[in-house]
Amino acid sequence: LDNGLGLRPAMGFNTWNAFRTNIDEKSIRATADLIVSMGLRDAGYVYLNLDDGWSERNRTADGRLAANKARFPSGIKALADYVHGKGLKFGIYGDAGSMTCAKYPGSLGYEEVDAQTFAEWGVDYLKYDNCYAKQEQWVIDRYAAMRDALNATGRPILYSLCDWGVADPWLWASEIGNSWRTTEDIEPRWESILKILDYNTGLARFARKGAWNDPDMLEVGNGQLTSGEQRAHFSLWALMKAPLLIGADLRTIHPDSLAILKAREVIAVNQDDLGVAGDLIWMQGANRVYAVPLAGGGRAVVFLNLHTTGGQYLTSNITVYWGQLGLPAGRSALVRDLFAEQDLGEHTGSFTAAVQAHDVVVVRIMPVGGVQGDTWRPW
Ligand code: DGJ
Repeated sequence: LDNGLGLRPAMGFNTWNAFRTNIDEKSIRATADLIVSMGLRDAGYVYLNLDDGWSERNRTADGRLAANKARFPSGIKALADYVHGKGLKFGIYGDAGSMTCAKYPGSLGYEEVDAQTFAEWGVDYLKYDNCYAKQEQWVIDRYAAMRDALNATGRPILYSLCDWGVADPWLWASEIGNSWRTTEDIEPRWESILKILDYNTGLARFARKGAWNDPDMLEVGNGQLTSGEQRAHFSLWALMKAPLLIGADLRTIHPDSLAILKAREVIAVNQDDLGVAGDLIWMQGANRVYAVPLAGGGRAVVFLNLHTTGGQYLTSNITVYWGQLGLPAGRSALVRDLFAEQDLGEHTGSFTAAVQAHDVVVVRIMPVGGVQGDTWRPW
């Protein structure tokens, strides 16, 4: 959506994956404090977004949404002020049907008053869900109504469509929102991560600055995902130009998960100026290569090993050839490991990575002398 927002994929925190509807102003303030003290704000995670469960069960007498009195006694405006005071931006959640998924009031038919309320509260980001709408209430119309209402407030509010991939949003949503969900909900399991990854293959070409595919929020730090699985999840989401929304409880997050979320050179791939989304470029058996062009002629490459049993003997050697990346075969390029933040030397024509099972190697390949007239847009 050309509203000047989301020129890079959004980065921040959302309450849903860690807390479901068990949210209150005390824990949100604590989360805001932790985002700052843990260095996450400075790493780029600037949005603090409430998900479902923040409101009262009913609208006020004058038809407005209101914060849940028991859990948000100070109200949303005060909370947004607190979040802004921390140098963060504040996001909220609504629904394009009669009720949210957790049965709080939806905004269908109330788009203008709700957008106005959000703007008055100082909201910077709206996630807009898709529960409780009737078949004949066409999804595009419902999402466009809130786009227009947000626009009419005059306040810049990033608009994140949570349409779950209904009606192929990559075909229409770039005119409506700053991002659109491509799939059902993510879960903190390797099978779920892979399923969502595969649903997104081929969709990169529909993304552009201000209009991104959303393969759902991060599960880094949740469930029983191994470190390798979390690295794979995070780096592939970064490469796809997914919004990077942390979904783990920051009070208890494991240091290894925090380090993955703070991997600055992987984040830089996500936030790269070129604004092109990456995609799958090669697969054979359990081995895959994902790639994306970067500003200045570099490429980021994620080598993924999907072998389902762990162990040294299932390590894969995976090769990418310059030709697959739109680079001249005879050109030397500097290869750098982006998680290790370590140079891997100059290579010509190809690079081979040794990748553990259920893990990735993530590199940047920077042709020496840059690339003149680089028009590589394979997707
Ligand atoms: C469905 C969405 O896909 C989730 O991300 C979350 O927002 C829940 N609804 C909230 O009820």
